[in-house]
Amino acid sequence: MVTDRIAHKGLKAKVMSADDAASFIKHGDTVGISGFTGAGYPKALPDAIARRAKFAHSSGEAYAIDLLSGASTAPECDGVLAEAQAVNYRAPYQSDPIMRAAINAGKMKYQDIHLSHLGMLVQQKFFDIDVAIIEVVRITEDGAIIPSSAVGNNIEFLNSAKRVILEVNSWQSLDLEGMHDLWMLPELPNRIPIPIVNPGDRIGESFIRFDISKVVAVVETDSPDRNAPFKPTDEISTQIAGNFLDFLEGEVAAGRLAYDGYIMQSGVGNVPNAVMLGLLDSKFENIQAYTEVIQDGMVDLIDAGKMTVASATSFSLSPEYANKMNDNAAFYRNHIVLRPQQISNHPEVVRRLGLIASNGMIEADIYGNINSTHVNGTRMMNGLGGSGDFTRHAYISSFISPSVAKNGAISAIVPFASHIDHTEHDTMVVVTEYGYADLRGLAPRDRVKKLISIAHPDYRPQLEEYYERAAAHSFQQTVHDLTQAFSFHTNFNEHGTMLNQK
Ligand code: COA
Repeated sequence: MVTDRIAHKGLKAKVMSADDAASFIKHGDTVGISGFTGAGYPKALPDAIARRAKFAHSSGEAYAIDLLSGASTAPECDGVLAEAQAVNYRAPYQSDPIMRAAINAGKMKYQDIHLSHLGMLVQQKFFDIDVAIIEVVRITEDGAIIPSSAVGNNIEFLNSAKRVILEVNSWQSLDLEGMHDLWMLPELPNRIPIPIVNPGDRIGESFIRFDISKVVAVVETDSPDRNAPFKPTDEISTQIAGNFLDFLEGEVAAGRLAYDGYIMQSGVGNVPNAVMLGLLDSKFENIQAYTEVIQDGMVDLIDAGKMTVASATSFSLSPEYANKMNDNAAFYRNHIVLRPQQISNHPEVVRRLGLIASNGMIEADIYGNINSTHVNGTRMMNGLGGSGDFTRHAYISSFISPSVAKNGAISAIVPFASHIDHTEHDTMVVVTEYGYADLRGLAPRDRVKKLISIAHPDYRPQLEEYYERAAAHSFQQTVHDLTQAFSFHTNFNEHGTMLNQK
């Protein structure tokens, strides 16, 4: 069935099955796909590529691609491809359990890249894109495309790919048209300031135009975006949200923030989502977001009239909220702008707008170095995503996390972070259910006290003991006892808990 979503005659003639389209993707190709945090990823081609890979492997042939995207996708994309061992190299972000296992087993390569960097690396031709597979809402009569629920690196992939496959997904609302703001920075040496001075500013087009002679296939689909639902807010996440709000209230009292003037960036995950729910009952009004993904909590803030506008590159919605967005896209496009991720995450705009950034973390050390990605220093969780793009450049950068993970076996505050994604120089505030540590203006030894005060009480004596022993041994600017700096992590490896054994 050829839907009326493909108005261009030449492209209509290119409609074929996903399996036929997959024949354009060869072993060793670099493939750039649409998709960002469970939204807007291709729904049919990944499965077809996985079938190709399995067939090739069963006949003793090699078949694997290098896969680039906006960010994570879904089980129907990263999951099936990893399961079929169809991916040799993946960047810039993923969060799929099967793919994570393959990465950590050394079966595929993964590079965790700042999300604002990947499109630039493609434009620099560092990555040579063989095929772009892009999900669209519709194709216009003159061959322009309307992206779906994620913009990501679509423009960079379409411009640099040798071959293009379009997936036209009828599940995506036609009313998404008008939500996108598609504008790219001119390439060097012709760069100009990005003309965004308010989060909701629109500076580009609502469609993408590219060289459609590169289109080798158009595939029709009718499949939902699939994201895991958020965990229901519990006592801990409610306390964290409360502490974050206390921090914001303190900023208002100090004159650094106004109730009407809060511009947020919120990271992915359950805890950042819970913080947004906390804002529903706060005194903050006319909240704006310049962020990477639209999560359930932001939709609630828009519905409650608390948030006027949110700029992002994609949705990261639970299934319930994805359906709600689809049914009401004509309303939400007045409050949401979806941009290319080079723009949604651009440091220049982040610094200009004065964001208050909050992201999740795996662990912070007693000086404020942050590990966002590696469990016990070696096992990749997801990736740093856009956290670096926002953290370094925000007006105030914060990290929020429960004080412990895995029923208390893992402390989120450790002597020395076992992997560092954000340095002590980037981290201004750390929030747990025990309060917030405002690290601004503090020398290392004063940071230690603040960070230990928000650690779980079970771990505080161990952290104090570590610091005091290290300081007694030799006082230097940043005190450490390198023989014991990873004692929490070695405890966990040996005993399944970071707690010292009696
Ligand atoms: N060691 C081991 N596991 C840990 C951990 C630690 N120190 N901290 C958290 N986890 C686990 C939790 O136990 C949980 O596991 P489960 O799903 O098996 O229950 C999982 O990580 C998620 O933790 P949760 O407490 O629910 O927080 P979250 O959903 O907010 O996620 C991160 C926390 C760090 C995983 C997440 O924020 C992340 O991937 N961040 C990096 C990317 C980023 O910041 N992106 C934002 C850019 S805009």
